[in-house]
Amino acid sequence: MNAADNQRGPKSPNLDNLTLSRKEGWRDYVEAPKRVRPEELSRRQIRRLSEEAADNYNQRRADWHNNIGPLRTPQLAALHEDLWDIMDSSTQDGNHAKGAVALEGYPGLGKTCAAEAFAKEFHKREILRHGAFTAAGNERWPVCRIGMRGNTSMKDFSRALCEYYAHPGQRGTTIELGQRALDSVLSCETRLLIIDDLHFLHWQRSGGVEISNHFKYIANEFPLTLFFIGIGLDERGVLMEDLASSSDSADYQAIRFEQTARRTTMLQMRPYRLTNDKERRQWNTLVATVEERLILGSKRPGMLTDDLSEYLYTRSTGHIGSLMELIRRGCARAVRTGGEALSRELFDTIKIDSAAEKARKELDAAFRTRRLHTRTTGQRRAS
Ligand SMILES: Nc1ncnc2c1ncn2[C@@H]1O[C@H](COP(=O)(O)OP(=O)(O)OP(=O)(O)O)[C@@H](O)[C@H]1O
Ligand SMILES: [Mg+2]
Repeated sequence: MNAADNQRGPKSPNLDNLTLSRKEGWRDYVEAPKRVRPEELSRRQIRRLSEEAADNYNQRRADWHNNIGPLRTPQLAALHEDLWDIMDSSTQDGNHAKGAVALEGYPGLGKTCAAEAFAKEFHKREILRHGAFTAAGNERWPVCRIGMRGNTSMKDFSRALCEYYAHPGQRGTTIELGQRALDSVLSCETRLLIIDDLHFLHWQRSGGVEISNHFKYIANEFPLTLFFIGIGLDERGVLMEDLASSSDSADYQAIRFEQTARRTTMLQMRPYRLTNDKERRQWNTLVATVEERLILGSKRPGMLTDDLSEYLYTRSTGHIGSLMELIRRGCARAVRTGGEALSRELFDTIKIDSAAEKARKELDAAFRTRRLHTRTTGQRRAS
């Protein structure tokens, strides 16, 4: 038997957004065992594997490379610090409103990834502190996560909540569903309600304002923290000031808006930048961490850090989503072709998202003229 045959680690559950939209799926995510790092074989050793063993080894490497992270990037660490502060300072007695947090940033910066990583830690800590069941004997679900879509109506939103909690009554009027959803939130003592991709609300023709008002109602009346995530949000964007279709009086709506706005903490996630040594070091650390994680037969120290740091910045424009996409596709090709290494030539043949491709030309020019670079002052002096 080959080394590659007997190291099939515990299979990680196949998680996707659909899975996370049910509480059991969320629990699988929280309790998923750590992936087992495949052993490192040289290119020669890989060539000597039987066809079956090589296929098994490549599958395990694909699974590994496709699921690198979440890495503790400075953006993720800063967000987690803020969120811990907010959550730890919100344990007032009684049913006090806890307000809302909004995380804003361009697509592909790792907002969802960082938020889910936080929610996972928070879930674990709450269960450890307070037990898996509430005092009333219900299952404790400290976190609930709902993703908005282009056409999410008020009814869809409430139904999604009911589905998350596996509430038996998933039929009924909008009001009935809404009531059941909020009952579940209360009885499961949920403390953090994550609403991802909030920007979709703004693109829908009707119904958006109604849900937005509902959020304001939840934020103001329920003992939980609402956590909005989306692109291009600001206070007005999060709360949608246009309240025209609500049945409340205009004065009451304005008061509610002000009240919620005052309790909303705005957080931002930004791309990596290279304007000073600190930022350059952060980028280089990310590239080094990624390099360390790669399992390729012809990998050598410095393969990414020495040769490709600037190139990878150009391609990804400092967006971790684009970087990881490039790395995943690069690794897939390096394994499939037997090259077993990453290089500029290989990456040049790989296309990624169009936003990154568009920005690439401009950055290319900046690197060529040395307006931009990834070497810190110390490294430049040394060379
Ligand atoms: N901390 C991290 N470690 C490793 N990979 C990450 C990390 N954060 C993000 N990624 C990678 O970037 C990809 C995009 O991240 P994510 O979906 O969280 O971005 P987003 O900001 O929510 O984007 P969108 O606004 O489009 O929803 C992920 O699929 C993952 O591959
Ligand atoms: Mg997202």
